[in-house]
Amino acid sequence: MFRYQADKPIDRPRIVSVKAVEDESPIVRTIYFDDEKCSEALPGQFIMVWIPGVKELPISLSLPSKKGNSAITVKPIGPGTNALYNVKPGDKIGVRGPYGTPFQPTNGKVLIVGGGTGLAPLSLLCYKYISYYTHITVIVGARTSNQLLFIDKFQDILKGKGRIIVTTDDGSKGYRGFASEVAEKLIKTEDFDMVYTCGPELMMKAIFKASEERGVAIQASLERVMRCGFGICGSCCIDRYLVCKDGPVFNTHQLRIMQDELGVYSRDYSGRRVNIH
Ligand SMILES: Cc1cc2nc3c(=O)[nH]c(=O)nc-3n(C[C@H](O)[C@H](O)[C@H](O)COP(=O)(O)OP(=O)(O)OC[C@H]3O[C@@H](n4cnc5c(N)ncnc54)[C@H](O)[C@@H]3O)c2cc1C
Ligand code: FES
Repeated sequence: MFRYQADKPIDRPRIVSVKAVEDESPIVRTIYFDDEKCSEALPGQFIMVWIPGVKELPISLSLPSKKGNSAITVKPIGPGTNALYNVKPGDKIGVRGPYGTPFQPTNGKVLIVGGGTGLAPLSLLCYKYISYYTHITVIVGARTSNQLLFIDKFQDILKGKGRIIVTTDDGSKGYRGFASEVAEKLIKTEDFDMVYTCGPELMMKAIFKASEERGVAIQASLERVMRCGFGICGSCCIDRYLVCKDGPVFNTHQLRIMQDELGVYSRDYSGRRVNIH
């Protein structure tokens, strides 16, 4: 499945200055910068961020603000995300993209379910497509209360047009348990025109299953190890799809095709299968 077009120039990173950083929680930080192309990105699209001397990695675009016309929100888990988390205003980073398929807007009543940094693209979705929705339910899930993300920002965006439900694995705030448990109950009992989700893959798999049982359309944003970001290296494959090019946002039909791999395994940097727990 080789999709690179030889006549298309390969993107080089555009060097941008960090304008501001903002802590969202003790372990998650938003980094603001100005970049015209990123500011025009659609919700769900991602960029390849180059941290000079460290590495390049995929990160979703999150909320725009006065602090910069684009933003990314990062949680440190390894060398790349650690270095990005620690950038300071004035530091230079490189950005390529935006890449990938965006979330599609839908008219009507929607359910938005996010876990951890999965809430980053979902906040941009709410912000840009608020006018499409008649009613929005946002489920914000985290392990513990101090890791909950974007609650104030969602409140600002929703402007009384919906509700925010909080879940924590340890019960320190809101519903005690997984965001997927609340989502499954709501999908069974309420009528949604679309479910949007991004977060841990097992959470998304459970929500996909519940949506299928109820016959509700769903869009899920997946993550895989990425190297090129635009379809030439093959490192991000899931079933017949490349997450960087065919995704990261996949619709019901595509999720059905990949369901034997979804939430079962991903691949590490050497291409070996890694079980998803
Ligand atoms: C489309 C997309 C959007 C993303 N958006 C965000 C975001 O908004 N904020 C954020 O903090 N992170 C995001 N990520 C995840 C982020 O890119 C990875 O966590 C990062 O590449 C890890 O690099 P590292 O050097 O910090 O750690 P590494 O040492 O490279 O990785 C740490 C561990 O995570 C695994 N891993 C690395 N990359 C991925 C991946 N993409 N998917 C699954 N497992 C991976 C590795 O195999 C390893 O086990 C996104 C990933 C994708 C594909
Ligand atoms: S094909 Fe290279 S990251 Fe997807």
